[in-house]
Amino acid sequence: MRKTVIAGNWKMNMTPSAARTFIKELAPMVAGKDKCDIVLCVPYVDIAAATEAAKGTNIKIGAENVHFKASGAYTGEISAEMLVETGVEYVVIGHSERRQYFGETDQTVNLRTLAALNAGLKAIVCVGETLEQRELGYTETLLKYQTKIALTNVTAEQMKNVIIAYEPVWAIGTGVTATADQADEGNGYVRAAVAEMFGDAIAAETTVQYGGSMNDKNAAELLAKENVDGGLIGGASMVTEKFTAIVDAAN
Ligand code: 13P
Repeated sequence: MRKTVIAGNWKMNMTPSAARTFIKELAPMVAGKDKCDIVLCVPYVDIAAATEAAKGTNIKIGAENVHFKASGAYTGEISAEMLVETGVEYVVIGHSERRQYFGETDQTVNLRTLAALNAGLKAIVCVGETLEQRELGYTETLLKYQTKIALTNVTAEQMKNVIIAYEPVWAIGTGVTATADQADEGNGYVRAAVAEMFGDAIAAETTVQYGGSMNDKNAAELLAKENVDGGLIGGASMVTEKFTAIVDAAN
């Protein structure tokens, strides 16, 4: 059976000292709740403090992006090898905010995914449609297209380290959550794309998260859906009680 993964994405929030305090507070609240993997994806500069604070707990630490080149003249970028050495296990790739504000394309999402996987990281690859694309009726086409490009040249073996997060752009940070049925349907399109590329068995084993205004109130209903194998959580991942409630819903 596929794993349920509850992952926070802090985006550009929390300083290193705030990260340390938060994780120290969260750790006892989620201790022993092992029916899901618990991950916090944090800003690069928080990684040292976060990995230190999470040592000996069931909280794993991730980054929020990775460059696709091994090294070189790419000012401001961070390589997969650098991340591995910091103790990070996961990395978010292709978040809609990267696509929207930083020129991320389906092709660069693919290159970053390959770089992360080749370095042994677990990739949380984000896909999702805008409201306009949904209203035009392109949700299925777009989710399959984004998923397939992101996973081009990924091996069947590497799929064990791939998590896909379906994040409808219109539901991110807006307080508008997809209904549980919309989340299940979107995640189902993603899983179908994985099946078309890698076969039904691998698709059935692939964790597909939902993200977009998931919180302590709606998590249980979303996570109860067949195709929703966890969440990628922004705002509610920075409030210990809310994040714990989502972990509880997954347990
Ligand atoms: P919110 O949970 O704040 O809507 O953010 C979702 C998200 O973008 C997680 O990556």
